[in-house]
Amino acid sequence: MEIVLSGIRPTGNLHMGNYFGALQNFVKMQHQYKCYFFIADLHSLTTHPTPADLHGNVRTVLAEYLACGLDPEAATIFVQSDVPEISELYLLLNMNAYIGELERTTTFKDKVRAQPDNVNAGLLTYPVLQAADILIHKATKVPVGKDQKPHLEITAKYARRFNQLYKVDYFPEPEAFNFGESLIKVPGLDGSGKMGKSEGNGIFLADDPKVIRKKVMSAVTDAGPTVSNQDMTDAVKNLFTIMDIVSAPDTVLHFREKYNTCEIRYGDMKKQLAEDIVTYLTPIREKINDIYNNNAYLRKVVGIGTEKARESASKTLREVREIIGFRAF
Ligand code: TYM
Repeated sequence: MEIVLSGIRPTGNLHMGNYFGALQNFVKMQHQYKCYFFIADLHSLTTHPTPADLHGNVRTVLAEYLACGLDPEAATIFVQSDVPEISELYLLLNMNAYIGELERTTTFKDKVRAQPDNVNAGLLTYPVLQAADILIHKATKVPVGKDQKPHLEITAKYARRFNQLYKVDYFPEPEAFNFGESLIKVPGLDGSGKMGKSEGNGIFLADDPKVIRKKVMSAVTDAGPTVSNQDMTDAVKNLFTIMDIVSAPDTVLHFREKYNTCEIRYGDMKKQLAEDIVTYLTPIREKINDIYNNNAYLRKVVGIGTEKARESASKTLREVREIIGFRAF
């Protein structure tokens, strides 16, 4: 059976970008494939969280995974640092990862711009750790948002390189995957780029309706179209993209027509968009708190997940060690 794997870094509450770019796919895939979903807490160390923040954020993401409908009976849900085999495979893959290619990765260049005072080696080798996450379970489909595509290309390259170096056909080449469509980029509310946690342009799964309405009503727009079928500015295009994701097709069509005939009132569109987001997120938000506070349940989920993840990971690591030439006397 095809193996699906993906993860999210615990850096705070999850936002609509995480949800529609990745998490929604996890939920749809868990009953069809053998799925591994994890919390990438080792990856989050590149930004030096405090111990309290690290632990709290892992709990938050875990509670939000479960509130969104990830089913611990169907999928293997685990925390990256609970599976030490990943770190060993990371070390082994580092020997076949070249500094030049890592330096050229777009995500690395973005991080260097974002945190120029903390360009640590973990940041440079971030894609190697991500490759270890994926290859340790020999996953072939990786549901992620568009920004992660370069990392999947690197993972496929390392799988190929390992196979060539040791003349084996061991690791499959995984691909970035979106359930039925192309990879998604959920834009932010500030008229530029993608929705993200640090950008301050996002709606979080845990936001209450009042907050959602306020954020959407203050989203950036423009002065409005003055000729029919006018090209949209990025800010307005972004609002339509978010509407495409959460609203009914009829609703989107209605506002597109209003735009094309220059009759649109952005206030009306935003009110509708806010209500559609509230409707979508309310059942999720209502579950988050309960799960977050249910320590016994969280412990049980992680316990079962860790055991299943380590079983698969240790098998791969044993085989990789054998292929490389670490053999018992
Ligand atoms: P992270 O934590 O930045 O984001 C988690 C997932 O959410 C997606 N995403 C978005 N998708 C669409 N639009 C957006 N605005 C948006 N913002 C975030 C991301 O594409 C991602 O799928 N490196 C990964 C975590 C990771 C991983 C892995 C993923 C570590 N190991 C192995 C897959 C497989 C990351 O930083 O994602």
